[in-house]
Amino acid sequence: MTRETPASTAEATRRYYETSDVDGFYAAVWGGEDIHTGIYADPRESIATASRRTVAHLAAKASGRLGAGGTVLDLGSGYGGAARYLADRFGCQVVALNISERQNQRHRETNAERGLAGLIDVVTGSFQQIPCPDGTFDVVWSQEALCHSGDRATVLTEAARVLKPDGRLLFTDVMAADDCPPETLRPVIARLGIEALATPGFYHEQLARLGLASAEFEDLTGHLLTHYLRLAEETAQHREDLVRVISPAYLDQLDDNLARWIDACRDGRLRWGVFAGQR
Ligand SMILES: C[S@@+](CC[C@H](N)C(=O)[O-])C[C@H]1O[C@@H](n2cnc3c(N)ncnc32)[C@H](O)[C@@H]1O
Repeated sequence: MTRETPASTAEATRRYYETSDVDGFYAAVWGGEDIHTGIYADPRESIATASRRTVAHLAAKASGRLGAGGTVLDLGSGYGGAARYLADRFGCQVVALNISERQNQRHRETNAERGLAGLIDVVTGSFQQIPCPDGTFDVVWSQEALCHSGDRATVLTEAARVLKPDGRLLFTDVMAADDCPPETLRPVIARLGIEALATPGFYHEQLARLGLASAEFEDLTGHLLTHYLRLAEETAQHREDLVRVISPAYLDQLDDNLARWIDACRDGRLRWGVFAGQR
């Protein structure tokens, strides 16, 4: 078997997000704006509303660094929902770094339609090697993207490097519980093409290694189960519409895989929440 490297994992991720099945699933079921876990006020709430609440929740932790003139780097920016929210609401400049050109194209088109192209620079590239000088950003932001990395320590080193002194690092990620044997999650994460998830303990160690101050983890794991239940419900309810954009074979795989995520949430093998730290 070929050994995975961070570069080969990044390339596999790029190919994953470029396929029309995957693009169709994320655009249609997750809402086409945000592709991350929602914070649910109600378990019946729409995925899009809950996902937008997560963005607002993270923004509230930026501690005043998002005003006009503020600079944000979004690592693994997807369709650009967070970038648009931040630029529109706070007037800050956002660099949206993302490996999928297919997503980036849609991101740029939506920014132009909403009059936000001047505030958001969509850059195609990998967060394993951030193409920006040291000390550039007030906030480095990332949502459910580090899970795709084959070398998360390097991504976090890069993130700290491009933060201004006193800048804030804010990220969410889906993680394995610290006491979860990694092999039990292999069938769960197979869809993502990665070997293992990070754990909260790993991220705590990394933030300490980087000397980030006020490091904290807000554990919001309960929302992960609600989110995957909602994804499974939406996928089942809209199957007839989805087969127009997603192949039936991929939909079958999804049904099976979403059920595995739900089981893993129910038996406590997964964690989700917000990490914050300050340079
Ligand atoms: C689950 S999506 C989250 C997208 C966005 N952060 C959001 O919350 O809507 C994961 C994103 O990470 C991006 N990604 C994965 N590996 C990457 C890498 N090595 N460099 C840059 N982006 C990457 C993917 O292209 C995808 O957009």
